[in-house]
Amino acid sequence: MTPPAVPAALAPPVAAFLADRAAVRDALRRFGSPVHLVFPQVFETNLAALRGVLDGAGLRYRICYAHKVNRSAAFAATAAHAGIGIDVASGPELRSARAAGFPADRIEVTGPKGRAMLVAAVDAGVTVNVDNLWELETLAALGPAPVLVRVSGFAGSAPSRFGVDLADIDTALEMLVRHRDRVPLRGFAFHLDTASTAERVRAVADCLELIERAYARGLTPTVLDIGGGLRQVFTADPAGYDAYDAALRAGLLGHGPALHWGTSTFGYHVADGAVHGSAVFHKYANTDPAPALLAELLAAPLPGHGGRALGKVLADNLLELWLEPGKALVDRAGITVARVEFVKRTGGGATLVHLDLSRDTVTAADQEVLIDPIVLTAATGSGPAGVYFAGRLCLERDLVTQRQVRVPQLPEPGDPVVFANTAAYHTDLSAAGASMHPTPAKVAVVRRGTEFVLCPDADHRPGERP
Ligand SMILES: Cc1ncc(COP(=O)(O)O)c(C=O)c1O
Repeated sequence: MTPPAVPAALAPPVAAFLADRAAVRDALRRFGSPVHLVFPQVFETNLAALRGVLDGAGLRYRICYAHKVNRSAAFAATAAHAGIGIDVASGPELRSARAAGFPADRIEVTGPKGRAMLVAAVDAGVTVNVDNLWELETLAALGPAPVLVRVSGFAGSAPSRFGVDLADIDTALEMLVRHRDRVPLRGFAFHLDTASTAERVRAVADCLELIERAYARGLTPTVLDIGGGLRQVFTADPAGYDAYDAALRAGLLGHGPALHWGTSTFGYHVADGAVHGSAVFHKYANTDPAPALLAELLAAPLPGHGGRALGKVLADNLLELWLEPGKALVDRAGITVARVEFVKRTGGGATLVHLDLSRDTVTAADQEVLIDPIVLTAATGSGPAGVYFAGRLCLERDLVTQRQVRVPQLPEPGDPVVFANTAAYHTDLSAAGASMHPTPAKVAVVRRGTEFVLCPDADHRPGERP
């Protein structure tokens, strides 16, 4: 039995590029294999969709692109050109944002920061999204610096290592009052890595209460920053995804052909004749596009506000909503292409398609890629098959996919294989230079009519015709 297919959802410019086999082969010839291709035009489309939702809600808002999602200079330049803000989480990201053209007043620094980062933020004159009381105290000495206070500890949310716990907010407010000239309070922030609208609504309600408490002490916050966490859509066929998941579980139980390699269980726990827990690839299951999730949040009734929609409450209170989307802005805006080295059979009867790529080039260590890599081959004859993708690195578990993937046709050496939707964290979170392999080139792809113009990522200039 060949496993069920889990086809990738592709943005139209990416689908058009992949349909142009000569363009794909040309990219590999010019920039080597593997190569990361980023599509700034898809970023622009994703941004326009989020803006559409926010404009429709009649609010004041700011979108801050979360730079950490990808090191791409082309995405950062695209965000700067579009006039949005940027969220940076390190000194190099701050420098990248400046190089992309962001003025200080459109940059916020997030995440836990050491003293050097705080000094750099104050020197640059950017907004500091404060993670803890030590940061606030240090900034009060180093400032002036406008601040947001990141809050955590909301009822119903998982405990967090980030932010000032709600229980410590009074201490933070006292410090903000005492040092109001050094650390003027712009507002409150949170970031929840969840798809749950209910959880975000609770956090917003708590933050609105904090804003009232801040006003009662003479402070004048105007910003509510809800962070990132809007989901991506990976698969073009949710039913195929579910069928695959079911077949994978059946295989783990021995009730069907094994689709897993060796002892891999993908986070599932097999005991007492059942599969328990949730798999590490749960984010691949999402079917709600980010704009729909954002619209749902803005329309959600806010407890304690007479059932008024969250967006309306913010607008009525003249608050500015800030968002820090990472994944949502680069959703389907990047792919990684590698070449097939060879195809082989193992002693156990498995088929391995060996690529000139390592697992950590396309996914974070613990995450299994749960959409099928796309094989671009002219070969005919084998018909559909279930294969494991293997690649560089030496350990038995270093397969690129530890699950069997359905391919319509076995490829041949030199054929391109495409990993779709890799721009969000997949390519840049853990891309290591093991075995002295160089880091893959990153290349911006721009569609002009029926042509594709490719240039090194760092050379992409939004608005200029190459
Ligand atoms: C503070 C903060 N904001 C925004 C983001 C971006 O999140 P996402 O890519 O889920 O939108 C992150 C991600 O870790 C984050 O830590």
